[in-house]
Amino acid sequence: MLFSPSGISECVQEWNDLEKDYQHVQETHRLYKQKLEEVSKLQESCTTAITRQRKKLKDLTVSLEECKEKLNPEEMNVIDGIQESIRDRPNVFFEMESFLPKKNGLYLSLVLGNVNVTLLNKQSKFAYKDEYEKFKLILTVILFVFSFTCRFVVSYRALDALFNFLLVWYYCTLTIRESILISNGSRIKGWWVFHHYVSTFLSGVMLTWPEGKLYQMFRSQFLTYCLYQRFVQFLQYYYQSGCLYRLRALGERHNMDLTVEGFQSWMWRGLTFLLPFLFFGHFWQLYNGVTLFRMAQLPECKEWQVVMCGCSYLALFMGNFFTTLGVVYQKYMNNQDKSKSL
Ligand code: COA
Repeated sequence: MLFSPSGISECVQEWNDLEKDYQHVQETHRLYKQKLEEVSKLQESCTTAITRQRKKLKDLTVSLEECKEKLNPEEMNVIDGIQESIRDRPNVFFEMESFLPKKNGLYLSLVLGNVNVTLLNKQSKFAYKDEYEKFKLILTVILFVFSFTCRFVVSYRALDALFNFLLVWYYCTLTIRESILISNGSRIKGWWVFHHYVSTFLSGVMLTWPEGKLYQMFRSQFLTYCLYQRFVQFLQYYYQSGCLYRLRALGERHNMDLTVEGFQSWMWRGLTFLLPFLFFGHFWQLYNGVTLFRMAQLPECKEWQVVMCGCSYLALFMGNFFTTLGVVYQKYMNNQDKSKSL
């Protein structure tokens, strides 16, 4: 419990102590502001130096290519060494920049304005990513219960609309959070973010689809798909947060070497388990698209939402399927390169 002075002498004594402490607070704050200014200056000089390095390296790459034609083998070796080092630099600059403030992209500028979203230490970055994964998990549970209720318990258009509205909000929020993660050095592939823009659009269109025969024809398939998607999302959460915690424990993220061998084997086991479920979901998206295009051929089909949703599902199928294949291929090739270099 805090000490509360009773008599006048105790009050004066307390005031004197507070005065001393106040001087100390002022001094600490002055020091803090001074350090902040030093940090701002360092940030500016780092940003300028990186820009200058990039430009000079670009010019040097062109010059080296020109020199190559008239060199002996020894000089060629020197040039190969320089080119090898130049190839590593973009990754190093990318890591450096994830700790430096930068101008927001168009989307973040429109949504948040020009506020700095760069988190300045690894712990805050990890905490933000962790919170993003947990946010997805909580919404996954809520959306699972919601879609289950709509699918098996209550069939009411207004409740479906509420469900679709929640989806629109959820996907919008993800696009904002993912843009912030990218600003902080996350390597989320552009498609996964774009996938959430398409999903926002799709849910928005579903929201405006009026009640009728065609809506009812697609409703059960759509809600069952949503249930499945939430189930896959849950598996994804287990995999992604597993990666996040293991890599954090290893203290590194993108430059994998021997120390991450254990992680690699965990990742491959996780991926092999997850992939069949992911691909099944992708083909379900294709099936949704085909179903909607078939419905669009029916004479009673007047709603524009049918074709729009069909196109969105096809786009989702193609993007998700080919990006996932690309990711797995890239991981496989990296793995092969690592094994060869050992
Ligand atoms: N959504 C959001 N972020 C994703 C993501 C996704 N679908 N896939 C990968 N990321 C993030 C990772 O968390 C990592 O972030 P970090 O740099 O901040 O650590 C970064 O992107 C790079 O990840 P990468 O190493 O390329 O892939 P991974 O091993 O983390 O995940 C997959 C690979 C295939 C499991 C994952 O991309 C995935 O689940 N894709 C399928 C999504 C899908 O199809 N959903 C629809 C289902 S019906």
